[in-house]
Amino acid sequence: MTDRAQFIRQLPKAELHMHLEGSIEPQMMLSLAERNGMTLRWQTADALRSAYEFSNLQDFLNLYFEGCKVLVQQQDFYDITRAYLRRCAADNVLHAEMFIGPQSFTERGVTIRALMDGVLGAVDDARREDGVSSGLLISAHRHRTEADAFALLDSIAPWQDRVAGVGMGGPEVGNPPSKFVNFFAECKRRGFKTSIHAGEEGPAAYVREAVELLDVDRIDHGNAALSDPSLVELLRARAIPLTVCPLSNLRLKGVSSLTEHPLREMLQKGLFATVNSDDPPYFGGYVNENLIEVQRSLDLGRDDIVTLAKNSFRAAFIDEADKARYLSLIDQYVKQNAHF
Ligand code: HPA
Ligand code: ZN
Repeated sequence: MTDRAQFIRQLPKAELHMHLEGSIEPQMMLSLAERNGMTLRWQTADALRSAYEFSNLQDFLNLYFEGCKVLVQQQDFYDITRAYLRRCAADNVLHAEMFIGPQSFTERGVTIRALMDGVLGAVDDARREDGVSSGLLISAHRHRTEADAFALLDSIAPWQDRVAGVGMGGPEVGNPPSKFVNFFAECKRRGFKTSIHAGEEGPAAYVREAVELLDVDRIDHGNAALSDPSLVELLRARAIPLTVCPLSNLRLKGVSSLTEHPLREMLQKGLFATVNSDDPPYFGGYVNENLIEVQRSLDLGRDDIVTLAKNSFRAAFIDEADKARYLSLIDQYVKQNAHF
């Protein structure tokens, strides 16, 4: 391992943008299917992995939603969450905020209770057994109606105190943030932190809507914002975090090569960027691989990497005392690791 890669792997960090349904490793996907009496289109982990070739977001989402079918019982939700959080412990991810989109499951008869109890059981065990802190983000689907999103919000009311925030994903183009103005207003009224995927495949205007109409706490992705200088200034002045996902952008053809990735420009323009994995097995890497590959491709300096790690905690939906504690761990680490 190079010094740089080692510095990145051992650096304390948070991850703020990943989807639990998108974290199922191929071998686990096959085991879950077997446990639930299903036959997949692939017989081996290698065959499944070779299906991870995408030409755009919709192409990926088709496979991602197909993969959701293997999650049926409470134990399934527990197992995928626990596996991801074990990986966090191994990768020096000290805090993780994880999306799950319950509509994929409840529409097939899975109860919201099975999903929440499974995921939250793993959150509790990971904290106790591995010392990893995590928060759950409930993600609504933008291709469904606003009424569907409201129904989802009502269904999670019993777990209000255990939900770190509410987000939104799914096919972006044609489903702008403005479609969900009332929903996001209600999320805020109920006291939830909010985010929305915007500017991944959609235009800068969608990022602007997310800021001006929805007043979200974070933007997931946000790449397209760079084409609008006054929007860049708005994001910078308001210090709105962007949860950027380099390998996802590469694998969904948002960029043709990581050397073309906008992360360096985001940092140079003073934007509040973080690096994340989105759907790690599908896109070929967890947060460390995202940091390592984007550092190398853009020749980012050590200060940039430290800024990204600090930003990951600053942008987290945690209290100020916890942020300060994590930031001082980074300062300590940087002092003790002069190389790179
Ligand atoms: N975009 C939109 N929806 C998603 C994504 C994404 O990158 N990953 C999982 N669901
Ligand atoms: Zn995402």
